[in-house]
Amino acid sequence: MPQLTVVTRDGTERTLQGEIGLSVMEVIRDNGVDELLALCGGCCSCATCHVHVDEEWMSALPPMDGDEDDLLDSSDHRAANSRLSCQIPFSAALEGLRVTIAPED
Ligand code: FES
Repeated sequence: MPQLTVVTRDGTERTLQGEIGLSVMEVIRDNGVDELLALCGGCCSCATCHVHVDEEWMSALPPMDGDEDDLLDSSDHRAANSRLSCQIPFSAALEGLRVTIAPED
């Protein structure tokens, strides 16, 4: 199974096994990282799955759509490498992806 690395808000780094076909949010949540609230369950309507993606991975991700862009605008912690993790399908091509959970709004 491909892996991804998540950095939690206290700076702890965890390497997770990612099932292909799940979203990055689901991989993080299903591995018990409960600070990623993902309140809407992946419907792109809450922004509580906000992550900062390591810069070198940004070009490997699918483009952001308008809804994701609008939701990220509601965050005080939006950065150039912000994404909603529920909008990123995990795949073998993302083996080694590294994301940091954004501060809570
Ligand atoms: S889980 Fe709600 S926007 Fe991603």
